[in-house]
Amino acid sequence: MALMDSDESKKGKTTYDLKIIKWLYGFTGPYRWLMLLALILMVLTALLELAVPYIAKIAVDKYIYPSWRIAEFKDTERDRQFEKTLNEKYAQFVVPLGGNSYLVDTSELDSEYKNNIEKLGMVTEEKYLVIKPDDIKDNAARVKNVLVSNPDVFTREDGVYYAHYDSLDKLSRGDLTLVRSDEIRQVAVLAAVLFLCLTGIFIFSSLFTYLLNYSGHKIMHTMRSEVFSHILALPQSFFDNNPVGRLTTRVTNDVNAINEMYTSVTVQFIKDVLVVIGVFIVMFFMNKTLTLYVILFTFLMFVFALLFRIRLKSVYRDVRRSIAKLNAFVQESVRGIVLIKLYNREMENFEKFRDTNRENFKANMDQLWVYATFRPFIEFTSVFAVAFILWYGGLKVLRLDLTIGALIAYLYYVRMLFRPIMELAEKYNIFQSATVASENLYDLAGVKTEQKDGIEEGAVKGSLEFENIWFSYDENEWVLKDVSFKIEPGETVALVGLTGSGKSTIVNLILRFYDPQRGRILFDGTDIRELKPEFLRQNISAVFQDLFLFGKDISDTYSDFLYEGVNIEEMRSNGHTISSGEKQLVSLGQAFSKKAGFLILDEATSSIDAMIERKVQNALRHESKGQTTLIIAHRLSNVRHADRIMVIHKGEISEIGTHEDLLQKKGIYFNLYQLQNEIHRFSLLEG
Ligand SMILES: Nc1ncnc2c1ncn2[C@@H]1O[C@H](COP(=O)(O)OP(=O)(O)OP(=O)(O)O)[C@@H](O)[C@H]1O
Ligand SMILES: [Mg+2]
Repeated sequence: MALMDSDESKKGKTTYDLKIIKWLYGFTGPYRWLMLLALILMVLTALLELAVPYIAKIAVDKYIYPSWRIAEFKDTERDRQFEKTLNEKYAQFVVPLGGNSYLVDTSELDSEYKNNIEKLGMVTEEKYLVIKPDDIKDNAARVKNVLVSNPDVFTREDGVYYAHYDSLDKLSRGDLTLVRSDEIRQVAVLAAVLFLCLTGIFIFSSLFTYLLNYSGHKIMHTMRSEVFSHILALPQSFFDNNPVGRLTTRVTNDVNAINEMYTSVTVQFIKDVLVVIGVFIVMFFMNKTLTLYVILFTFLMFVFALLFRIRLKSVYRDVRRSIAKLNAFVQESVRGIVLIKLYNREMENFEKFRDTNRENFKANMDQLWVYATFRPFIEFTSVFAVAFILWYGGLKVLRLDLTIGALIAYLYYVRMLFRPIMELAEKYNIFQSATVASENLYDLAGVKTEQKDGIEEGAVKGSLEFENIWFSYDENEWVLKDVSFKIEPGETVALVGLTGSGKSTIVNLILRFYDPQRGRILFDGTDIRELKPEFLRQNISAVFQDLFLFGKDISDTYSDFLYEGVNIEEMRSNGHTISSGEKQLVSLGQAFSKKAGFLILDEATSSIDAMIERKVQNALRHESKGQTTLIIAHRLSNVRHADRIMVIHKGEISEIGTHEDLLQKKGIYFNLYQLQNEIHRFSLLEG
């Protein structure tokens, strides 16, 4: 681990990561402007979200909650100083009440000044409503009437009416509404603005969610297509080392993980960061000390979220691992169900399953535990923070250090601040799996595909030549050793040999599923590496030893002679349930109908009955005249009519000749032939 974290490998990792990011970015191509639009909408949403609590603050501070208090200054040097400032700096927010008393609109004072006169006991706790008749816009006469006709509530001073806040309940409801109509109107305006903001948030966030997911799905679509077409173009050797399940995961889950990161992490993250920064700025502007406390809480939450993430990561990994194990086990069991039944292994199998299942349960419980403790804990911290702010902020409000509107806004902002932090842990998980997924996909995309281009020749004669071919699948052990032979156009050549001697390997090389390490293979005199693989495969039809049929493969185009006694309709309806022999028949039909210049049959009649086999033999001899044919068969009676027979032994061609030649030679072929005849005779006798 320590070694891996060395500077050198970190540097390598960074360039690797950069390459991955560049690669991923490449997929965003035509959707970049959509992403930009989504981002702009997101910034707008963030700004509106920030504005909402502030509008509430203005409504409360300016119009709902009375901010006028009475300030009284004593006859000391210090008080005189403050009185002077008040008269000079805040003259328009002050109503002199005679002597050293003043009505002061505290919401307009600087917080430092306000703090000082509050601390020094120069302001009283009582709140007042102040009405300047000159400022009244609507119903001035009626308002004035209310003011004048309620002398027990309103006091007139210096052309201004003021009332103790608590005495306002002496007014009738109608009078009160009239007196405060200006404020009521302002509050209504602010409510309308608030409504507009919320509508804006609704519209913008719907739009950006749509745009983001739309482009995400488009990107995922493109990526998935590219990954799959890349997989299709990969060489056979790649599939030897990569199980199906893994590749399925690449195409489905991994692409999904990246999409999820794109839609819910990357762009959302930008918004979260914007909101957090914005909230801090607005908070700082409203009150510095309280903001410092909020920062402290945020930091705490962040640490908890980080711890949560670390813990979550390991339990997540366990859960995923146990699910993978469970999947693999079920898959394997179902695939091998015949063997399980044959060897009566149901019980053992089930017990193994139970262990794996228990492991999965345990992993899930661990995860549950983490979720059940950490998440509520983080939630608790956030609620605690809110409670703290309510208490401490409330204290500050009482000391005039903070307006009540600001406190309300604070409580709202704090929730806005904590939400992204609480989501951090979960988002990190998405990010983590997307990182792994993109690494996987990037590596997959980096695997060299099969060659696509090459020469396409015109008419195919069908000659094939192996020139000193050496080949190994795993670069450890030679499977073919210096194999050389030539098949002339129109010739029928048989390839025989013991199990594992390399026959199918020769077929693999002819079709370029693999390339030999040494030597050349010539098709009609051209090195097959120079030919376009598509052209090569078009001109060779083959029936493989390991058959695989697609469900819908069975079409009408095959030579009819093959289908006697076989219900094609039934076969068509379900390609999977047909018998091994039927499968071979379908493949033979496909190969014959392709009418390519070169035909390869690798154990193509091993599963069909003798009667149909005879027909296939005849078809081979008569219908495929002029077609070069390579037949691989264990049953030697099938190949005795071949023009030539090649014997391969442990990866080397040991004998070549006609059936008679080889019998006379008394070598491997002779021995094999004798053996098969003996078995045949023996079984006849037995019968
Ligand atoms: N994809 C592969 N990866 C690694 N080794 C392989 C692969 N395919 C075959 N081999 C090995 O290469 C050797 C030759 O295999 P090949 O399939 O050519 O034998 P064969 O002559 O066709 O045998 P059979 O008569 O059983 O069909 C065997 O030892 C086999 O285990
Ligand atoms: Mg084989």
